[in-house]
Amino acid sequence: MRKKLIAGNWKMHGTLASVSALSHVLLQSVSSTGDTSLVVFPTSIHLQSVSEILKDSPIAFGAQNFYPEDSGAFTGEISAPMIHELGCRYVLVGHSERRQLFGESDNLIAKKFLAAQTAGLTPILCVGETREERETEQTEQIIRDQLAFVLAEVGLAAFENCVIAYEPVWAIGTGLTATPDQAQAVHLFIRHWLSRHNERIAQKVQILYGGSVKSVNAGSLFAMPDIDGALVGGASLLAEEFLAICKAAG
Ligand code: 13P
Repeated sequence: MRKKLIAGNWKMHGTLASVSALSHVLLQSVSSTGDTSLVVFPTSIHLQSVSEILKDSPIAFGAQNFYPEDSGAFTGEISAPMIHELGCRYVLVGHSERRQLFGESDNLIAKKFLAAQTAGLTPILCVGETREERETEQTEQIIRDQLAFVLAEVGLAAFENCVIAYEPVWAIGTGLTATPDQAQAVHLFIRHWLSRHNERIAQKVQILYGGSVKSVNAGSLFAMPDIDGALVGGASLLAEEFLAICKAAG
């Protein structure tokens, strides 16, 4: 039985005061997460403060971005070992905003996936199709290509320690959520794809859904057999909403 994982991607939001306050509220409200794991992703500049609040708590924290070299002349970047040193457990890799707005290639994404694992971090690999790709029935092809590229670069064993997030681009920040059936169909497709390579890993990997998850739709998504949690954007900035989504995960 896979544990549920609820991840809050705070994106480029908040001030030091607001993210600290949010972290304190979450900490006070979550004494134990039971069978659900929780992780939040503040901006890089807020990570240190959030780590001081959440360290040794049941709420994990992670980084939204990094560069896949350990150190060197890479002005403006931070590395996976630096993130790990702060106590992070997870990093996001391949988010559609990084693919689309910052031109991240499949090649860079695969390098980041590997660098994260080498540093002792668990990558949350995001995949998903655009509206046009869905409308032209390319969803499965796109997801398969995104996964296959990483697999070819990192090898199957690396999928043992990762999380996959299915985030349809058309559902991100739009208020349009994939229906539970639509999301389940893609999650099952991903699990079948994994099981063609290794059944045990396919059954083990948590597959999260992301895209306008709110407390009102979380329960019906989590009821689906292959949806193992959520990667939440906007609603994760509101303590009450985020906690309600966590509660819906059981
Ligand atoms: P929203 O929940 O705001 O749609 O964002 C989803 C997302 O991109 C999480 O990574």
